[in-house]
Amino acid sequence: YKRVTVKSLVEMKSRGEKISMLTAYDYTMASIVDGAGIDVILVGDSAANTMAGHETTLPMTLDHMIYHATSVVRAITRALVVVDLPFGTYQSDPKEALRSAIRIMKESGGHALKLEGGKEIKDSIKKILNAGIPVMGHLGLTPQSIYKFGTYTVRAKEEQEALKLKEDAKLLEKLGCFAIVLEKVPAQLAKEVAESISIPVIGIGAGNGVDGQVLVIHDMLGMTKEFNPRFLRRYLDLHTEMTNAFEAYHKDVKSGDFPNENEQY
Ligand code: KIV
Ligand code: NA
Repeated sequence: YKRVTVKSLVEMKSRGEKISMLTAYDYTMASIVDGAGIDVILVGDSAANTMAGHETTLPMTLDHMIYHATSVVRAITRALVVVDLPFGTYQSDPKEALRSAIRIMKESGGHALKLEGGKEIKDSIKKILNAGIPVMGHLGLTPQSIYKFGTYTVRAKEEQEALKLKEDAKLLEKLGCFAIVLEKVPAQLAKEVAESISIPVIGIGAGNGVDGQVLVIHDMLGMTKEFNPRFLRRYLDLHTEMTNAFEAYHKDVKSGDFPNENEQY
């Protein structure tokens, strides 16, 4: 395979080819995702939820991100691997942001980083870009700010927040980010943002007028049951499939059916 690069993503946008992106946090899953031809693998700090069972992404640490990213990178032959900078490792000052960024790049072998926010973190983004590290922005519903928002509902429904989002998107492009994730904003606004900049906008709950889509892998596989936002399309019902498998195994062990003669030495 020809490897996906930050440059090839921008080229995909300019020729109108949509970009596919999924999260992964471990080697086995990442190798399946990569083998299926997905363009971008996001080692998301959503690992705090899916892998560790936290209610928010705030507890995620740099060390844990590096562990997940390292596992993913070992599996990849084609996809671009983007790694989230976790909460608290880039907001306080640009120097700390750069130190965090360098640790992830050096220790995990990931290809790019994602940071949540616009103008507020512009100096950190600049510093990281100056070190030669590609940066993906993330605007709209930014889960590391959940306690500021109060809820996980749609962002930028009001004019003022929509205006700020548009300005932030332009700023991220100007700074040199190679793409932006836009989470849970009205489809019309997302479309306008995507049309106003030349770098790809990758949506989650942001409609079809953007340049690509991302989903959390546990959600799209139907492993999570309680999470039912309108934007989520489930491609499997793995929760049911896995429950059936575990129950069948349990029954076979209890009854003595497993292992049979062919399954022993
Ligand atoms: O951490 C994550 O999974 C993300 C995506 C939802 C974009 O940031
Ligand atoms: Na994230």
